[in-house]
Order: sequence, then structure tokens, then C-alpha cells
Amino acid sequence: MGFCSSFDFSNASLLQSCHLISGNVILQKTEFRQNDIRAPARSTGLTTLPRQVMNEQSKEKLSEKNLHELRGVLGKGTTRKSALQSFVETLRKMDTRYNWVGIYLVRDGNLLLESWVGEQATEHVTIPLGQGVCGYAASSGETVNVPDVNKDPRYLMCFPSTKSEIVVPIHGEKNVLGEIDIDSDKVAAFTMLDERFLEEAAKILAGFLERTS
Ligand code: SME
Repeated sequence: MGFCSSFDFSNASLLQSCHLISGNVILQKTEFRQNDIRAPARSTGLTTLPRQVMNEQSKEKLSEKNLHELRGVLGKGTTRKSALQSFVETLRKMDTRYNWVGIYLVRDGNLLLESWVGEQATEHVTIPLGQGVCGYAASSGETVNVPDVNKDPRYLMCFPSTKSEIVVPIHGEKNVLGEIDIDSDKVAAFTMLDERFLEEAAKILAGFLERTS
């Protein structure tokens, strides 16, 4: 049985602060890597890892695979626009909760919708930096995870089907370059793992945008 409170995908390791109980081994509030998790199980003769830790490891592996794929699609685009379009399409296919996926870029105090994929177009193709969940995320530089859009006064409605939304800023060297915006038809669709995964995806985009600007 294990409880893990944070993950770091950036160095491809399971870096976490965990309470892990494995056989007669109890590790509390310590940082350790994937190999360290396996060690107690081997030393106590256990052949399987605790179920929750296994699940988290599987999710981390999936995230790494997905991030690798996202890097790849950017590399294959023939233009900046086509690369970003492939990026949102690939990202949307990775999770059925990701119903609408867009990338907004910052231009002259506004967010401009650069690429999107979903069932419908949005009327919000230009959003002033101070407005909406999108404007808030870009101005604050923080990931904004809204579990119930109908309860958030910042929310600008695009689609009646949307129940939750996550907006992840794309940080350049000096400022916020844009953001990933995802709408879901499920309430509270986005977890801490989505936040971490999308923040890594945003880093990939940041490198791409700076190289191609
Ligand atoms: N809901 C966003 C506007 C963009 S649409 O979701 C595509 C907001 O509140 O800023």
C-alpha cells in the first residue's frame, strides 16, 4: 500500500514523497527513485509491488511515452502552424477526457487561438490577458485546473457541454508565450497527474516556440 504525493516527469524517474508500506518496510516522507521502491520488495522476498505504486509507475511510463510522441510530432511539422496543429490533435487522442484542445499564443496583450481540435469552433479566438480562465493563467503564469466551470466566475463559456477545464501556461525564457487549454465534458476531469503531464508538454512547446520564432 502506498500513497504518493508528487511526481517529477522531467528526469524520467519516479521522484516522490511517499508513505510506502511494503512487507515489513515502512518508508516515510522521503524522496527516492524508482529503483529504491523495488529494493524493499526484493529484500523482503515480495514479487509484486504494492498495487497503487504499480499503477502510478504505469501512469508515469505512459506519460513519458506520450511526451516522447508529442516531441516527435513537433519535429515532423513542415510549418510552425502545421506542427502545432499536429500537437493538439495528438494530445487530444491521448485521453478521452480531453474533448477540446487548443493552443493560445500571447500577442500584444491578448491571447490568440493558434491551433485547436474538438467538435466545435470557439467564439473566443482572441482573449484579453486579464479575462477568463485563460487570461488568468497567462497573467499569473500558473496552471489553472477548474473542476466545475459553472462555479468559477472567471469562466468564459465556449461550449455548453464543457464541465471542467485546465489551462497550462507555456513559459518562455523571459515571459509566458502562450498556453494549452483543454475542456472536458466531465466534471473534475483533470488530476494532479494531468497537471504535471501537461506542464511537461508545455515545456516541449516552449522550446519549439522559441526555436521557431
Ligand atoms: N473557457 C475559456 C475560454 C476559452 S474556451 O474554453 C476554448 C476561459 O474561460 O478563458
